[in-house]
Amino acid sequence: MSSLKGKDYIETQDLSWGELDVLLELSDELKAKFHRGEKTPLLSAQTIFLLFFDNSTRTRNAFEAGATQLGAHAHFLDSKLSQISHGETAYDTGKILGSMGHGIAIRHDLILHEGNKFMRQVAEATDVPVINMQCDVDHPTQTLADLQTIRELFGKGDLRGRKIAVSWAYSPSYAKPLSVPQGLITLMTRAGLDVALAHPPGYRLMEQTLEAARNNAREAGTKFEVVEDMDAAFADADIVYPKSWGPYDLMMQRRDAVDAGQMAAIEKEMLAMNARYKNWICDERRMKLAKETAVYMHCLPADRGAEVTDAVFDGPQSVVFQEAENRLHTAKAIMAATMRERPF
Ligand code: CP
Repeated sequence: MSSLKGKDYIETQDLSWGELDVLLELSDELKAKFHRGEKTPLLSAQTIFLLFFDNSTRTRNAFEAGATQLGAHAHFLDSKLSQISHGETAYDTGKILGSMGHGIAIRHDLILHEGNKFMRQVAEATDVPVINMQCDVDHPTQTLADLQTIRELFGKGDLRGRKIAVSWAYSPSYAKPLSVPQGLITLMTRAGLDVALAHPPGYRLMEQTLEAARNNAREAGTKFEVVEDMDAAFADADIVYPKSWGPYDLMMQRRDAVDAGQMAAIEKEMLAMNARYKNWICDERRMKLAKETAVYMHCLPADRGAEVTDAVFDGPQSVVFQEAENRLHTAKAIMAATMRERPF
């Protein structure tokens, strides 16, 4: 654990497999203690700042509750109510928050090619750890919880030969970030799983994450394939992870929009494009294409009736609530391993 002290947690790609394994083991230990009612004051009287540019239920509460349970305090910061909204830079924000506490966690996920850059600028300004609570590239606290869940279900040993289907699914609500599927294809190829990524035309992921997944698969001896067919990805899968994300080119146009009106028009166009693929839903027929023992995963929130039917979401193969609870334990493990005492 000591090797992670002071280290940033921005992308799982930044950590060695040994470091990720330390976090997973610590998360298992903290989960067991939580369920036994044992106290774990590993970060007594420390402070972490949680800076949000987007909404959250699971991540915010995993970090807030987790910090309390570790004996620390989490300060919630809404970017719109901070001086960032008046133009204060990432560097200055990092310098100031870093001088007042022991860790900075950030969610900045909606704008392509902005959030990860912002986090890395904050990290440059401070020596306290910067934790990515979801950016445009990765959602590494989510995927670590996903991997903890997969290890609980399939064993901590070799996951080799197991297949995960990471698929696009229809959503009518909003153009969701790309970071969950990107984080899954990069982490799960390293974890020993064969990964099938499926999406309709126009929903490609960022090239850097596809390249990383291809390299990881080559190095780990796993498979990584990209198909435009949800059924093909589901075939013989051990794990299915269908969720929506926005169309890449339109998301880039939204990033470059000049005003709120143009942004709203692009968002409408994205939802219209999504609506062409309403048949990309995880239903009981599709679950039958996967192995009989397959599990249904989703980072949540899920669009019930669009991304997934109630029968699957509430059915016996769904592990979404176990997965969501693991957000708490992995958030605690990441904070406990990376935050450190500072001399006052
Ligand atoms: N899965 C996830 O990150 O959930 P929230 O958006 O509610 O934090």
